[in-house]
Amino acid sequence: MKAVISGTGLYTPPATITNDELVEAFNQFVELFNEEHAEAIARGEVTALQPSSTEFIEKASGIKCRHVVDREGILDPRRMKPYIPERSNDEPSVQCEMAVSAAKQALEQAGKTAADVDAVIVACSNLQRAYPAVAIEVQSALGIDGFAYDMNVACSSATFGLQAAVNSVENGAARAVLVISPEICSAHLNFRDRDSHFIFGDACTAILVEREEQTRPGQGFEILGTRLKTEFSNNIRNNFGFLNRTDESGVGKPDKLFIQQGRKVFKEVSPLVAQTIQAHLESLSLSPNDLSRLWLHQANLNMNQLIAKKVLGREASLQEAPVILDEYANTSSAGSVIAFHKHQDDLQTGDLGVICSFGAGYSIGSVVVRHR
Ligand SMILES: CC(C)(COP(=O)(O)OP(=O)(O)OC[C@H]1O[C@@H](n2cnc3c(N)ncnc32)[C@H](O)[C@@H]1OP(=O)(O)O)[C@@H](O)C(=O)NCCC(=O)NCCS
Repeated sequence: MKAVISGTGLYTPPATITNDELVEAFNQFVELFNEEHAEAIARGEVTALQPSSTEFIEKASGIKCRHVVDREGILDPRRMKPYIPERSNDEPSVQCEMAVSAAKQALEQAGKTAADVDAVIVACSNLQRAYPAVAIEVQSALGIDGFAYDMNVACSSATFGLQAAVNSVENGAARAVLVISPEICSAHLNFRDRDSHFIFGDACTAILVEREEQTRPGQGFEILGTRLKTEFSNNIRNNFGFLNRTDESGVGKPDKLFIQQGRKVFKEVSPLVAQTIQAHLESLSLSPNDLSRLWLHQANLNMNQLIAKKVLGREASLQEAPVILDEYANTSSAGSVIAFHKHQDDLQTGDLGVICSFGAGYSIGSVVVRHR
């Protein structure tokens, strides 16, 4: 049984923050900090903080803007984190709400309803609670009869989720599976850290994977293969977890948020991604020249250009390797799926592309698809 991507959906939070707005808030925070610690800085006991800059952010990353669930809390120099009020257990959770919005779009695009779907995988970098699984709440909200589970492989969650969906569809466990990635990255980002305060944004994607025979001829993308690769690294790490409360000394420390060695990640992950895509194509008896599109993880523009060049053996055009991180920043596992969702309308029957994620773990997921 072949698996097909028959529909995709995207929920974009309406609020945005430009680099200028983010830098202004960050620099106000720096001023306040340096004023408050002026004496300790003068004594050499505390290091003065350095301001951020829009020029650096755009040049180093290609990011111009990001969508966020809450703007005000992030831009308040005395708070610098989103304000997302807790909800009662009787209300839909925030991630469930985003997921349902994206999932409904994917179903609509595929021309399907909840009755056609047997499983929901919520695959993302951060889940807002330990249990019950957000996926089961989403399953219930959509009225799907079947099974659901959450999974987390950081930035590669969506592609790893896609492989799980393909397996379920191909082995007959489900007729159709929704893979949904509600990424609220602004809640794990340390907006007080100059090296990374600009990196992330929020969004949610949904992908419907179905058995080929349930779909119309010419609809969507056939999944030719998936390839996953992991290699342990501490260069992107977040120590937040349920054991934190068992040692009070670590509670609230910066390591309980996202931390990365960006330059090392860039250097180590780029060749690994290019090799993974090339080896995957080879295993499918395909060549990079056969590719019409590379929907890459959206963390850094320079990194994507380098990866595309390594894969294709030449510079890639913007059409070949589309960019959405200028508007969205890094939305973790949603990034490559946003690129796929927004940049596929011009493709013709038979055109080949690869959806490729990469990030913490390290983890890399490559999904080769052919337009039907
Ligand atoms: C994070 C990233 C954009 C940083 O870009 P970079 O070119 O590596 O920049 P560096 O961190 O080496 O910093 C370069 C200089 O700019 C400075 N700098 C850092 N942040 C700054 C800021 N916000 N404003 C101004 N200057 C800044 C640094 O202090 C450093 O100064 P120095 O040369 O005097 O030491 C980039 O490394 C990256 O995106 N890497 C890949 C990350 C990735 O894919 N992660 C996956 C996560 S899911």
